[in-house]
Amino acid sequence: MAKKSQATWGGRFSDGPADLMLRFSESVSFDHRLAPFDIQGSKAHSAMLAHVGLITAKERDAIHAGLDAILKEIEAGKFKWDTRFEDVHMNIEQALTQRVPAAAKLHTARSRNDQVATDMRLWFKHACATLSQHILGAQRALLTIAKRDGDVLIPGYTHLQRAQPVYLAHHLFAYLEMLERDRTRLAEVAAHANWCPLGSGAIAGTTLPIDREFTAKQLGFVDAKGRPQVSQNSMDTVADRDLFSEFAHACALFGVHFSRMAEDLILWSSSEFKFADLPDAFCTGSSLMPQKKNPDSCEILRGKSARLQGNLHTLLTMAKGLPLTYNRDLQEDKPPVFDSFDQSVLCADVLAGTIAGMKINRDRCAAAVADPALLATDLADYLVDNGVPFREAHHAVGAVVKLAETLKLPLNELPTAEVKKLHPGYKDDWASVFNLDRAMARRRGTGMPGPAQVKKQFKRWEKLLG
Ligand code: ARG
Repeated sequence: MAKKSQATWGGRFSDGPADLMLRFSESVSFDHRLAPFDIQGSKAHSAMLAHVGLITAKERDAIHAGLDAILKEIEAGKFKWDTRFEDVHMNIEQALTQRVPAAAKLHTARSRNDQVATDMRLWFKHACATLSQHILGAQRALLTIAKRDGDVLIPGYTHLQRAQPVYLAHHLFAYLEMLERDRTRLAEVAAHANWCPLGSGAIAGTTLPIDREFTAKQLGFVDAKGRPQVSQNSMDTVADRDLFSEFAHACALFGVHFSRMAEDLILWSSSEFKFADLPDAFCTGSSLMPQKKNPDSCEILRGKSARLQGNLHTLLTMAKGLPLTYNRDLQEDKPPVFDSFDQSVLCADVLAGTIAGMKINRDRCAAAVADPALLATDLADYLVDNGVPFREAHHAVGAVVKLAETLKLPLNELPTAEVKKLHPGYKDDWASVFNLDRAMARRRGTGMPGPAQVKKQFKRWEKLLG
């Protein structure tokens, strides 16, 4: 059955696309969310066309008014998206052409290839800033808990075995570092996005006398001094999808971070630990076991992180075998980054909510950290202070641990006479090591969990997080 040929590119076709092909090839169902950026790009492009005399000021104004009206309709949910026009770009251009005759000139010196690259770069800048704000929300929730309960001591773990005591604040600050790196990474991705593709055309620019710098300035693709930044190779510009992977990577790594936090919270909220109670609002019950309160928000966070990694993988694989330059495969670049963005924003908010509502069981933390074995390393340091080489000290403390196990006594309750027999470095004051205040106060260096350092970090984070 013959179909009407496609309106924008159908000139050389006698048949239109099959319905199945339309359904298969359309992207408007997901790229319609680029509309504000597409319109912003078209306004800048038409302003440039007028600036260089390719259209008149009147034509530019008519195009701008038409685009503004279309954006209003889209925002009001009244715009009719039509898969026959494939994507967001052609839907908007089609609608504009019906209203504004001058719109037939809008696509002068432009291709959808540099257009979609521009839309996405604008979108990435917006997405990075937005996600960063949501991560900041999670950081602020962490800081609030650190302020409220950060003075409580808990065991720090390696290999999920009790290792050494730390203030809860120090543990939470570790999360702040992770999230701060995520925000730095997003700012870097936004900086990489800050180059204007328009003017690259389909692949090889245009013969028309356009002003790329003008367009770049209009769209805010400028450096710190306000100088326009335009992409430097037309072929690379329409083929390049690095930003997509970079953004997905930033989200995937954020996912790794929140997944690790979620895992800690799941452990902490278990009966075995009971360091924390998670808020009812972010937990669910069991349909069978009435006593259950499950840490579902944390588990779903852990699960979502897998999805974020999958999106990155999709993008890397999509691009790896493509010859230069644009290939239609690249249309598949958008669903993964949109999904990474949507899910990351959601995860940041859920993380913030779960943390904000979390209660710390100070008694359980105190009981866990009272284990004197947590200060075995401090005992080795005590021997070092008394002139014993560390390796020897390590062994001498091992002997004390062994003795404690044999006598079934806590480390600090061993008879001093017995301990002194194990190594001449042990003096009468050997048990003074088993004092948490002393232990913490001695951890003075930058990055350590001592109280003076924690205080310093509080100041730093308060300043950083506003
Ligand atoms: N919807 C397309 C995409 O997202 C726009 C670019 C189309 N270019 C083309 N030559 N067919 O990739």
